[in-house]
Amino acid sequence: RQNEKESLYIVLNFAKDFFQKQLTDGAEGRSIALPYFRERGLSDTTIEKFQLGYSPSDWSVFSDHAVQKGYTPQILESAGLSIKREGKDSLFDRFRERVIFPIHNISGKVIAFGGRILKTDKKAAKYINSPETAVYHKSDVLYGIHQARNAIRQADLCYLVEGYTDVLSLHQGGIENVVASSGTSLTIEQIRLINRFTPNITILYDGDAAGVKAALRGIDLVLEEGLNVSIVTFPDNDDPDSYMRKVGSAKFIEHIQQATQDFITFKTEALLADAGDDPFKKAELITDIVHSIAKIPDAIKRQVFFARVAERMKIEEQTLITEGNKLLRQQT
Ligand code: CTP
Ligand code: MN
Ligand code: MN
Ligand code: MN
Ligand code: MN
Repeated sequence: RQNEKESLYIVLNFAKDFFQKQLTDGAEGRSIALPYFRERGLSDTTIEKFQLGYSPSDWSVFSDHAVQKGYTPQILESAGLSIKREGKDSLFDRFRERVIFPIHNISGKVIAFGGRILKTDKKAAKYINSPETAVYHKSDVLYGIHQARNAIRQADLCYLVEGYTDVLSLHQGGIENVVASSGTSLTIEQIRLINRFTPNITILYDGDAAGVKAALRGIDLVLEEGLNVSIVTFPDNDDPDSYMRKVGSAKFIEHIQQATQDFITFKTEALLADAGDDPFKKAELITDIVHSIAKIPDAIKRQVFFARVAERMKIEEQTLITEGNKLLRQQT
């Protein structure tokens, strides 16, 4: 078992080196992939720091090279790098014709890859990712955690974004305490991983409806784990990466400073926008927020948040506390 894991780390590292070399020295890498990263504003330093690469368009250029170097088809398959052709022994490359984002574990070993198509088209998925393997459990992993861990501890704060490129852009803009949930809905394991370095999370999800929805869900999960959560929103068609490129790092930091909302303000605003003047919807909203607060393990924090909602929603604090206590009794 341990042996299998060690073999996987070795072949994944071999693949990472191959993809890196293809990006800087390969014909396609130099003519299309490197220019793609340049167009996205990524510097050589960022490309090297995150070990970005390119997997060429030939069907099996990586698999053939790896087999020739002595890696068995079986290990290439179990690493999620190669796929067996149906009814045949030959392999083809999972990530062909994509730029490569290696995914590292906390100690910096490559455990998986994300691959992005160069030209977004409707037929193919924009990103494909490694399947679950003996060393890669998607729900336990945060993209960028290895590169961010010291900065998170130092700042006593972790920014949480959706995507690979959000992490890269923020690093390049000087914000290094950032990790990505990589599109999956946030998991308890991911929150616990952050909690090894800080109890403070600020969610910076995409400005679209999906991002707001994911943030609302993320908030409850973070609260349940007893951590502190704030939110920064972005204009509807921006994500942290596009916004960073649009306004630059100084303005980005300014935006974070003045647009950070505590979770109650964010949740109230997001839900109020839906509810309008409808008193029934408004009542539902209050119940919803009481539910969120009831998830907080710390009684003093709960008290503070009930007071805040009471003031904001112009409702008796005691009513909220009574409702909250009912929920708490149901939970235990
Ligand atoms: N994702 C994925 N598979 C997809 C789409 C998205 O795994 N088909 C994950 C990726 O980790 C991606 C993240 O979800 O980084 C966020 O998705 P999205 O916002 O659509 O992509 P961006 O990161 O903004 O990528 P880009 O700027 O290149 O469009
Ligand atoms: Mn697991
Ligand atoms: Mn999105
Ligand atoms: Mn983006
Ligand atoms: Mn995005």
